[in-house]
Amino acid sequence: MQTAATALAPLDAPLIDPFGRRIDYLRVSVTDRCDLRCVYCMAEHMTFLPKAELLTLEELDRLCSAFIRRGVRKLRLTGGEPLVRRNIMSLIRALGRHLATGALEELTLTTNGSQLARYAGELRAAGVRRVNVSLDTLDPERFRAITRWGRLDQVLEGIAAAREAGLRVKINTVALKGVNEDEFESLLAWCARNGHDLTLIETMPLGEVDADRTDQYLPLSTVRARLAQRFTLTDLSLVTGGPARYVRVEETGQQLGFITPLTHNFCESCNRVRLTCTGRLYLCLGQEDSADLRAPLRASADDALLDQAIDAAIGIKPKGHDFVIDRRNSRPALARHMSVTGG
Ligand code: GTP
Ligand code: 5AD
Ligand code: SF4
Repeated sequence: MQTAATALAPLDAPLIDPFGRRIDYLRVSVTDRCDLRCVYCMAEHMTFLPKAELLTLEELDRLCSAFIRRGVRKLRLTGGEPLVRRNIMSLIRALGRHLATGALEELTLTTNGSQLARYAGELRAAGVRRVNVSLDTLDPERFRAITRWGRLDQVLEGIAAAREAGLRVKINTVALKGVNEDEFESLLAWCARNGHDLTLIETMPLGEVDADRTDQYLPLSTVRARLAQRFTLTDLSLVTGGPARYVRVEETGQQLGFITPLTHNFCESCNRVRLTCTGRLYLCLGQEDSADLRAPLRASADDALLDQAIDAAIGIKPKGHDFVIDRRNSRPALARHMSVTGG
């Protein structure tokens, strides 16, 4: 007989957090490794997780599938760089089965684009329809400086391959003071010519990097005011549940997003949680609250313990983040890097 304390939620009960927010979006960092070292994201010499700590691709599939059974409709694979995980296409193809049944609405990736030339066709065949690609500059020298050793042409080839394969591409650009702040107009024009939407992102204080974040931080309110001198920006009411606020650039018709975690709080409508490649579930990008799902996953072949652990985790989802970057406080708000949770 079940007591109240051990009563299980129905197998397909939706995930609702203590603030009444429905969690239907899972972001999965499939690896903490990356082939680049963007200065705002990683230190040059990073210590990555030992391979033995990682969930297998089969375990990741089982975890994602449990979340989908509990009402997750959007799945985004991130990293590190998701496409550098060995055999990643087998996971993506397997997850594609949930698109075929209609259980999953969208399967997508956030990638640095370096491996897209190789994988674009296979991604499309697996059911992926759009990808977000990180690109902070169109200048090869600058690209090398920002990523510490990346090649811009490789990423541009990847983006072109994605488009040719029929994938929509959204470009993510992190706004960096004194680094790419003179390029937003040209990036916008390049995106318009190539049919990409663009989202600008403020730097967030995650993890020790070698640079000083107060030097890198550029408020997007400033960027928007500057762009508004050249373009007509019309606010869109579009609310995606995500962190971006959108405008339409009337001259080009494209959509431009602003992600301003430090100047604008969007947490009240947060719909997402984040899974790491070791099976830890982070409940908020800006807080340490997390729960281990690897132990319950491995403890039994059925999902009862896992479901209980997921319910308990959703029950501690915090209300929101409290990032600050200022002169007194240039230390990271959180010790973990963005590559642990994939943004
Ligand atoms: P779509 O809206 O589906 O295109 O995706 P997205 O913009 O949420 O995803 P993407 O991976 O492209 O992330 C863009 C940026 O948004 C990254 O810098 C993320 O760190 C940031 N971001 C995503 N979710 C959150 C969140 O819950 N809180 C904060 N502060 N930032 C987030
Ligand atoms: N602040 C803001 N954005 C970051 N990204 C990585 N690290 C940071 C940071 N500290 C961005 C990447 C990518 C997205 C997932 O997060 O450029 O576009
Ligand atoms: Fe790699 Fe993305 Fe971090 Fe750059 S921002 S180092 S591409 S994970």
